[in-house]
Amino acid sequence: MSKEIGQSDESERKTLPIEKGFPIERVNEIAEKEERAKRHYRPIYTMHKWWARRHGCVFRAISLYTLLDDYEDITVHEPGKNGTLSDYRSNSGEIQELLESVELANPESLWKLYPKDVRVEDKKILDPFMGGGTSLVETSRFGAESVGYDLNPVAWFVTKKEIDAGQTDLDELEEAFRQVKEDVSEDILEYYRTPCPNGDHMADVMYNMWVKELDCVSCGSTVPLYKDYRVGKGRYENKGGYNVLCPACESVVFVEDWKEESTCSECDHQFTPSEGNIDRGYICQDCGQKYGVLDGIQEQGGFDQRLYAVEYYCPTCDSKGLSKSKVKGYKAVEEEDIRLYEEASKEWANSDELKRYIPDERIPPGIKTDSTLFEGSIGGGHNVLRHGFKQWKDMFNDRQLLALAKILKSIDDIENQNVSEYLLLALSDALRTNTMMTPYQSSANKSNHIFKSNSFDPPQQPVEGNVWGTEYGMGTFESIWEMVVNGVEYAHNPTERYIEDGDTTESSPFSQKIGQGASVHCEDMRKLDSENEFDAVITDPPYYDNVIYSELSDFFYVWLRVLLKDEYDVFEPEKTPRAESIVANPAAQKGAAEFEDEIRQAFNTASKALKQDGVLAFTYHHSDVESWGELLSALCDVGFEVTATYPISADTHKFFEGEAVSFDIIIVARPANERDPISWNSLRRNIYRTAQKTRQRLEENRDLSRGDIGVVEMGRCFHEYSKHHGKVERAGETMTAKEVVDEIYGVIQHGSDIGEIDVFLDLLETPDASYDDLNKLSRGTNATPERMEDMRLYRMDDGFTLGTWDDEKRIAYIQSRVDSDEELTDLDKAQFLRYRWEHGKSVSEYLGEWEITDDLRELCEGLADATGDDTYRNILESRLSDF
Ligand SMILES: C[S@@+](CC[C@H](N)C(=O)[O-])C[C@H]1O[C@@H](n2cnc3c(N)ncnc32)[C@H](O)[C@@H]1O
Ligand SMILES: [Zn+2]
Ligand SMILES: [Zn+2]
Ligand SMILES: [Zn+2]
Repeated sequence: MSKEIGQSDESERKTLPIEKGFPIERVNEIAEKEERAKRHYRPIYTMHKWWARRHGCVFRAISLYTLLDDYEDITVHEPGKNGTLSDYRSNSGEIQELLESVELANPESLWKLYPKDVRVEDKKILDPFMGGGTSLVETSRFGAESVGYDLNPVAWFVTKKEIDAGQTDLDELEEAFRQVKEDVSEDILEYYRTPCPNGDHMADVMYNMWVKELDCVSCGSTVPLYKDYRVGKGRYENKGGYNVLCPACESVVFVEDWKEESTCSECDHQFTPSEGNIDRGYICQDCGQKYGVLDGIQEQGGFDQRLYAVEYYCPTCDSKGLSKSKVKGYKAVEEEDIRLYEEASKEWANSDELKRYIPDERIPPGIKTDSTLFEGSIGGGHNVLRHGFKQWKDMFNDRQLLALAKILKSIDDIENQNVSEYLLLALSDALRTNTMMTPYQSSANKSNHIFKSNSFDPPQQPVEGNVWGTEYGMGTFESIWEMVVNGVEYAHNPTERYIEDGDTTESSPFSQKIGQGASVHCEDMRKLDSENEFDAVITDPPYYDNVIYSELSDFFYVWLRVLLKDEYDVFEPEKTPRAESIVANPAAQKGAAEFEDEIRQAFNTASKALKQDGVLAFTYHHSDVESWGELLSALCDVGFEVTATYPISADTHKFFEGEAVSFDIIIVARPANERDPISWNSLRRNIYRTAQKTRQRLEENRDLSRGDIGVVEMGRCFHEYSKHHGKVERAGETMTAKEVVDEIYGVIQHGSDIGEIDVFLDLLETPDASYDDLNKLSRGTNATPERMEDMRLYRMDDGFTLGTWDDEKRIAYIQSRVDSDEELTDLDKAQFLRYRWEHGKSVSEYLGEWEITDDLRELCEGLADATGDDTYRNILESRLSDF
């Protein structure tokens, strides 16, 4: 789009379905289900972690309502029928009908195409912030040419593997996996065995549970850092109770209530399992000395770790048909367990060749790694660097490093680069669970993953899973590989799940594979210098300091880099780009102001890249009025007008409490037309009118919460504003977008009514106003022509005449109310004063008597704006000089 605003002509531009309406209820219904079962809905996005991934259904719906504008360019294929055309034919007029029927009150017509394999011709779409690839992949499924950017190499690689998936041979993948499995799985699994408690054979380890240890600063005893002594919740017949560790004899015993004092069934020791020795510091069990954990770690140059329990699964007992609670359970650590770890550790020490496969980068100081080094905070204590970790590899124990290096080396031996990259993808994602940075969730009988809370949070009791994997256990290499394969399969045969008559239904596979027509670039999007090229920009931009992608993604980056640095230049640097990453991050000396500046540059790039009749549709995180104001002004400044906003997460009820709440919205913007000047007073009435109309239509026709409705109202009001951005005058000054947003917020939060006075002001601004105009303007408001006539705001005896201050009948009406001491409206007062002023009569006695409210002042401003008669501005001020 050209920077010159005002070249396009609205009449030539089609209003898009998404500008008319959006099926929020439908999308939320699916999103909720997709959230709970991501790996079934769209397995393409569960191949590898990316932060803050959006739901695919949201972007599918946005694409459907944004990309489908011209029915002649749309073809609809029936899923599962080898790509045959569906009954919706572009020439039958039916598609046109679906498009044209979308409206605010009922946007559902187009939804019929949600489960269909829909293609649009000749569309070029940009996603400048593709992240994990959700919007890029979803737009590409419409057969569009989709171009994605992300400056983060991890995001780029993850998305690249998503769009390559449709063109990747599954047999080749399976074959490569078999090869790696043959190569290394036995060697790794050998280190994850434990004596089976049920017989004289070995079982598989699911999880080894470790506890950190520090020395007591007073008596020198070793103190294990147990928060409590829970090992894992009871399962099967033991439901309700807990397996706990006896601190005296280190057996794992079962107790009914872990918060009560219990007796160890092995050694009779009495203890309360909930009482560990961590309480804002660690407490020596021998002398009672308490000391800070971080201080201890720093003074003692790190910490030791000790194995305290094992969760096992025994295939032998399973095949013999033993009860479930025997086949899988918790057990105490035996000598053999310790010996196996030591053996792995020794092998690792002697494996110089394997060490090439382990990253040796240091953990860079950052807000997520040591927040104490920087001024400014993003909340939460982030200080992994002060927990004794220096290099990324310190987040793993020797046995994990050995296993991971073996797998990586074997992946490196695969000749087909594309195929080896999928195995690398699986390995990288498996790092999340195969690190000493995750605790075991004893209450859920499973391990966590490192990014549970979007940070590096070293646990006191880390859990070591079985890296290769056995029958059970979360996040093993083998189970993650299965997810990758599912993703690739889905890319070949993508389906849609949707809800029909209350039931979830899955469509047959679409013939359009994932990734066709898509391309990805690893670059700062602001370097994009295309002009007038894209029909749509559909994206999910970064939001303030919501996620510091660059710092978190280094965890994966350094491992991917091992195999990719010789392949791709973007993996050359030691860490992911910081400075160009658009995010507020104190460690990069970037605060809110810098972020706002950068996001403006981003919108500017998008604006240039868009065609004149293009559209920008993006999701955003809403938190407060101020960020709305900032966003609206940024968009308007670079030449957009906002045309609609919609809520996408269901929880918007707090919208009205004015707290700093957050929810997600969709914003639709288009290149702005020429902007006309307007007075705030008349814009305000437009906004009132728009908000009221929008609310009424939604309340009457849709099943939306008040908060959801508020968001839609907001968008419509923003549209009214956008047409006049930079040209709104209030009391002689130009209003900023932020000021207008404040006002709009107020209107939406407190509701707005359009009454007789508003309609009268509208009429004053209408050239040659007629009775028809009156009818039109009062429709859907609280004003009625009858009441306005009673108030002499107009009369028909001599053609249509407005009751202005110089209309005798109107003044006579006001005078009679003054005389009989009846209540006056602000308009009565203003006109009465104006009349007296004109005729040289004193106004001070009235000014002294009436309360001069803000409303009255504002009305006088409004009258001055509407009529160009500045006297209205002066009459209230005359009070003093009059005395
Ligand atoms: C909110 S995320 C996108 C998430 C994505 N919608 C998904 O579902 O996975 C925003 C992305 O913008 C990227 N980013 C930040 N600054 C950038 C820049 N200057 N150029 C390109 N991408 C950038 C970040 O790396 C991050 O991946
Ligand atoms: Zn002590
Ligand atoms: Zn005991
Ligand atoms: Zn067994």
